[in-house]
Amino acid sequence: MHVLALYSVKGGVGKTTTAINLATLSALQGRRTLLFDLDPQGAATWMLDGSVPEGGVRRALKGKDLDERLIATRYRDLMLWPNGPEFANLVLEMVEMKHPGERLARLLEPLAGRFDHVVLDCPPGLGLMADNIFAAADEVLVPLIPVPLSLRAALQVREALAAQRRPPRMHAFLSQVDRRRVLHRDFVDQYGGALPELLPEAIPASSEIERQTVSRVPVVYGQPRSEAAQAYYRLWRAVYLPLAD
Ligand SMILES: Nc1ncnc2c1ncn2[C@@H]1O[C@H](COP(=O)(O)OP(=O)(O)OP(=O)(O)O)[C@@H](O)[C@H]1O
Ligand SMILES: [Mg+2]
Repeated sequence: MHVLALYSVKGGVGKTTTAINLATLSALQGRRTLLFDLDPQGAATWMLDGSVPEGGVRRALKGKDLDERLIATRYRDLMLWPNGPEFANLVLEMVEMKHPGERLARLLEPLAGRFDHVVLDCPPGLGLMADNIFAAADEVLVPLIPVPLSLRAALQVREALAAQRRPPRMHAFLSQVDRRRVLHRDFVDQYGGALPELLPEAIPASSEIERQTVSRVPVVYGQPRSEAAQAYYRLWRAVYLPLAD
């Protein structure tokens, strides 16, 4: 089971959009996939028509009733661990438990035989939730809008990972790229050197991607031939093909 975290210290950079599209692609390729919504905004849950089952945060964190918590989606091979405002105090519950920085890793442990890919849709920010993400993930994938502040965010992720005992691999990619903007076109030339983790696969700014929040159908499923879907497919290959070796 490979655990991929869509993560950044920064908000609004494309974590959820990417998590949904990569997870859907995995499922379409026949990989048993779990999209784990870690954000009480519940955007990924809403996109997949999910809702949080009854039963309290502490029980959920202890992995109780796991079978009721993992819900099927309309895509074969794609399951969802839903999230919502009910889980806004997840971190406070973690603090009260033993090994607070490893709660997520322990929650995922018994799922190892059931899924090939787990994709974590993470909330932004550092702190205990981030520590949990870093302890659970094999790989952290950081979306970056090509402006200088994003580089700073990616460097902060790198620094936070370096402080971990067993840090996951880190990759970054450019998202919402608008080639009409000089700042975007020049980003790789100007800042690429400072970020060797940057993958060459980039996701364009796309009205199809914006519209998927209206249709609630991931672009890789609804418009598989679009430039945006093809870009997500190339990113999926960049992340998952090396694992086949
Ligand atoms: N490539 C893209 N082209 C156009 N719009 C995009 C693209 N990627 C994301 N968006 C839009 O940008 C907004 C933020 O994206 P998203 O919700 O994926 O970011 P996020 O990093 O998960 O945000 P948060 O930190 O709030 O969880 C959304 O409205 C989304 O539809
Ligand atoms: Mg999000």
